[in-house]
Amino acid sequence: MPGISIFAPAKINLFLAVTGRRADGFHDLVSVVAPLDFGDTLRAEPAEGFSLACDDPAVPCDATNLVLKAASTFAAATADKGAIRGATFFLEKCIPMGAGLGGGSSDAVAALRALNQIAGEPLDAAQLTKLATGIGSDCALFLHSAPIVMRGRGERVTPLPAEAAARLRGRRVLIFKPAFGIATPWAYGRMAAEPATYLPAAEAEARLARWLGGPAEAEALLFNNMERVAFEKFVALPVLLEELRTRFGLAPRMSGSGSACFALLPEEADGPAIAAVIRGAWGESAFVREARLL
Ligand code: C5P
Repeated sequence: MPGISIFAPAKINLFLAVTGRRADGFHDLVSVVAPLDFGDTLRAEPAEGFSLACDDPAVPCDATNLVLKAASTFAAATADKGAIRGATFFLEKCIPMGAGLGGGSSDAVAALRALNQIAGEPLDAAQLTKLATGIGSDCALFLHSAPIVMRGRGERVTPLPAEAAARLRGRRVLIFKPAFGIATPWAYGRMAAEPATYLPAAEAEARLARWLGGPAEAEALLFNNMERVAFEKFVALPVLLEELRTRFGLAPRMSGSGSACFALLPEEADGPAIAAVIRGAWGESAFVREARLL
């Protein structure tokens, strides 16, 4: 059986409203998420037992990696069918970690897809969604390769209406991240300590419905109420975003819980000039990359 190669896209949250804390400790949210045409590549070959190697030495390749968590979840879910005995994974890592770009979650879903293909598709889409949600809150969205609306703790995913998706597809976007990352549990914990940062669910839905119902372009959708707690501690973020607003007229935002930020770029924008300003502010270790929304 030959190996297979799966593209694991990065994502950005164009709209992210964290609406409140749930009884189970997770948070409810309403978010519009778009996958990007840039991401990791995961190769999988059938083997005895599961193992992972990665071209980036900073990536842990032990059981804490979501690829191996996905593999054991898949093996357990299909044990009665004897569908898979193992696989050797190789991860080509391009998506920065601790970024709010969904890299680990996307890799996990790529592993589920790879194993399901190798095993002859024993699981259907609904079963894969259930497994993905058990691995991480924002995994389910990566089973779609187009913009989606995500609700609940991230597991309730619906495709964006075609007309709205068309306002996003193909848009040019600049992704940039400082050398430091932000831990997702920390960001949610800070919001829980300051409940005024939540946006009530009804307001979040009304805001989203206004954009969905109108002709407004992607820029009018942009929102993220996790920025407040992140910007309080990591001041390098708001300082640069303000500079990009004033110098280039951009509307930059943070993605997810950060620390990656993004700006939709007009087609005529001078990407390298903007990248130079970002590197000037955050140093040469900053990650800067152009992409397109899928
Ligand atoms: O599910 P996942 O492992 O991605 O979540 C990481 C952490 O982020 C959770 O342990 C929780 O603290 C927080 N979280 C949350 N509400 C969500 C998603 C994540 O509070 N909807």
